[in-house]
Amino acid sequence: MEKIKVQVCTGTTCFVMGGSNLQELNSIIPEKYGDKVEVAASNCLGLCSIQWEYSKAPYVKVDEDVVSEATVEKVLEAIDKKLEN
Ligand code: FES
Repeated sequence: MEKIKVQVCTGTTCFVMGGSNLQELNSIIPEKYGDKVEVAASNCLGLCSIQWEYSKAPYVKVDEDVVSEATVEKVLEAIDKKLEN
């Protein structure tokens, strides 16, 4: 099975909109999923400028899926869903 790739946006918009809490994922993900899931910090994913009006930051990408208004719980849910498939 391919590894799931999680990208946590650490761009300014996402960071100030709550992305700073998402740094926890860097330790939670390896603990919970071992090497099935890879997590990395990313520069601005380019989503905040497209959807700026809606202010759905912070953003996290789980493979190609975008999690908006991301929280640790939402990201873990998105990963669990992928792993079920
Ligand atoms: S700062 Fe996160 S998508 Fe731009």
